[in-house]
Amino acid sequence: MIIGTGIDIIEVERIQRAVERWGEDFLKYVFTPIEIKHAKRFKFPFRHYAGRFAAKEAIFKAMGLPDLTWQSVSIINDPSGKPVCRFHRIDFKKRISISISHSRDYAVASAIVEE
Ligand SMILES: CC(C)(COP(=O)(O)OP(=O)(O)OC[C@H]1O[C@@H](n2cnc3c(N)ncnc32)[C@H](O)[C@@H]1OP(=O)(O)O)[C@@H](O)C(=O)NCCC(=O)NCCS
Repeated sequence: MIIGTGIDIIEVERIQRAVERWGEDFLKYVFTPIEIKHAKRFKFPFRHYAGRFAAKEAIFKAMGLPDLTWQSVSIINDPSGKPVCRFHRIDFKKRISISISHSRDYAVASAIVEE
């Protein structure tokens, strides 16, 4: 049974501007080391950062947990490339499915929580 859903969209340029302004401090505040490593593999890393940013916002909306932080969750990719959530320091037993898409200018993500 679905008990929560969330969706988010962000301009890739917004993330790029934040990184240009705040540098590694911004990256390390919002993203976990495995997420930074993933994005840096690509020619256009800001699209991948933006996708993860949108995914985390979608997860926050779907889960509705006030104590969730940017560092509470890593979005990693399974061997097929499909994004999956790995939680850190929080006990979250429910199943959560996410999907990410990005173009040159925008990234979108959705999250579904099931009992
Ligand atoms: C999986 C696939 C559809 C992704 O398409 P894409 O246009 O490259 O994806 P987008 O640019 O919209 O989004 C990229 C995100 O898709 C997600 N993704 C990648 N592979 C995925 C997979 N196998 N399943 C689900 N999501 C996947 C990732 O989160 C990725 O972002 P990230 O690397 O930053 O985590 C494509 O790579 C693919 O394999 N196509 C094969 C053809 C096909 O099966 N088409 C569907 C016919 S119905």
